[in-house]
Amino acid sequence: MGRADRYRWVAPVYDLVSGEPVYRRGRRLALGMLGLRPGERVLDVGCGTGLNHEGVRTAIGAGGRLVGLDSSPQMLARARARGLATELVQADAAAVDPVELVALAGGRFDAVLATYSLSLMPHWPAAWERVLAVAAPGARLAVVDMQRPVGRSVALDRLARAACALGGADIEAHPWTAVERDCDRVRSASAVGGHIQVRVGVRRSGPGS
Ligand SMILES: C[S@@+](CC[C@H](N)C(=O)[O-])C[C@H]1O[C@@H](n2cnc3c(N)ncnc32)[C@H](O)[C@@H]1O
Repeated sequence: MGRADRYRWVAPVYDLVSGEPVYRRGRRLALGMLGLRPGERVLDVGCGTGLNHEGVRTAIGAGGRLVGLDSSPQMLARARARGLATELVQADAAAVDPVELVALAGGRFDAVLATYSLSLMPHWPAAWERVLAVAAPGARLAVVDMQRPVGRSVALDRLARAACALGGADIEAHPWTAVERDCDRVRSASAVGGHIQVRVGVRRSGPGS
């Protein structure tokens, strides 16, 4: 089953079957580490049904702008029903027009997060390039994603691989390495025996950024 098809059918039950009691740990860690402030502009890449949106909206308040981006109209319909995003954009994160995203937010983003989404994208480095293009200098960037459990938790390896396969994620993608490469002041966290990896950093400013 292709990724687009998978999320078309999963959308109505995603919040129930996505293992949220386990995976919410990653999103909570990332939200805490991002330190969002009232009035900020936030982009949620591969936002799905909007499981991050309550936490983000609580932090940025009514005056903040939350833009959710996802390729699945069915997942976005669920996110829309929450009523917490300022804008929801249906597009491939690897091909979306950065100018359009920035215009929707009214400026470049103060923070970008991608939770359990980049590892589903065959072209996630292209999606990351767009993240860098829309992030303001000094913006905080957060990636939460999955790898094989390590240490004493290797016993969970089969379970972790099954969870990733069910969701269409590449457990070997390790997209948080982009945060380590392109950000300063990178902080790390992990949960569930290293299966959930969190990286938050400050977008490095460079020439032309
Ligand atoms: C496992 S869900 C995670 C959703 C949400 N971020 C969360 O934490 O619950 C992965 C999401 O990524 C979206 N997705 C997959 N490939 C995408 C792409 N190329 N561009 C945008 N969204 C994509 C899927 O439609 C799905 O909603």
